[in-house]
Amino acid sequence: MSLRPARKATVVAPANIAFVKYWGAHDLEEVRPVNRSISMTLREAVTRTTVDPHAADVETDELEIVGDDGQLRRAQGLFESRALAHVRRVRDEIGYEAPVRIATHNSFPTGAGIASSASGFTALTLAIRAACGAPEGGADVLSRQVRRSGSGSAARSVLGGYVEWPSDSEDSDPAAAAFAPASHWDLIDLIAIVTSETKSVTSRDGHRRAATSPHFARRLELLDRRLGIVQKAIVDRDLAALGPVLEEEAIELHLVAMSSQPPIFYWEPATLAVLSAVRQLRDEGVPVWATMDAGPNVHMICEPEAETAVAERVGALAGVVRLLHDRVGMGPMEVEDHLF
Ligand code: PMV
Repeated sequence: MSLRPARKATVVAPANIAFVKYWGAHDLEEVRPVNRSISMTLREAVTRTTVDPHAADVETDELEIVGDDGQLRRAQGLFESRALAHVRRVRDEIGYEAPVRIATHNSFPTGAGIASSASGFTALTLAIRAACGAPEGGADVLSRQVRRSGSGSAARSVLGGYVEWPSDSEDSDPAAAAFAPASHWDLIDLIAIVTSETKSVTSRDGHRRAATSPHFARRLELLDRRLGIVQKAIVDRDLAALGPVLEEEAIELHLVAMSSQPPIFYWEPATLAVLSAVRQLRDEGVPVWATMDAGPNVHMICEPEAETAVAERVGALAGVVRLLHDRVGMGPMEVEDHLF
């Protein structure tokens, strides 16, 4: 593969929220999911990553994080080793040998309890490719490469709008594809942050334990129907059809987690308070439904007309630390605004 000239490049990439969750993998190294998943790409929760292959004084790949104070700090621990392993993998795959300097920044507050692996690994992969002169890849090439970071949900963040990611049995090297653009339906995701603490069990461990739950096999039996309803509801812009199924799906993910061996409890008391407020809002005629990833924070999905009512009610709950306002987004893009 012939590379274009190396240059400094910055990519902004979004997180996504799954309406049908990826939970359980046939192969966690290759990240081959047991089930198909469907997500909405977000607009505001993004990671910005700059990669510079020219820094003459750098002998190894170097990764820094821009903190909330705007200062660059060297990345540490598991995050650093996982990210640098991915940097080497992508460099090897595209045939670029020289080390690079990287800086990365999340738009959402650090430690807000919002998973940054989907936006982080997408921004990292796309910025390395751009900086190291890799040929423009199609979305399927990018999705597969991002997926090998170990974050399955990241495979869906290379695309904007409404995205599906097939299961391992449908595609042995599964790549995500968009089935409706962001402009198709302006859905809101109001995120109620109930704790800023890092979760005690990673989603990787959750995937590993999923099949030990007696409810896992039953969930798989129910998924085909659920996937069909979710996809059709999105195509039809039908929140009344989508909402109940996305909420049922989130509860079931946590049912599987709670009944895995050993069990995983992601919820906090305030998670239940938010779920109860969402039900109450619906009883009062406000169309809003809730979903949660592998953590205690609650994503409330509604149309723009309902956003203020939901924010006022849920924002006033004692256990809610903050609310993040997000909505469907258009996917990653390269920008000129570098971090260093
Ligand atoms: O991408 P991972 O390996 O962190 O797993 C994501 C798991 C969920 O967020 C719970 C579901 C999903 O499909 O995003």
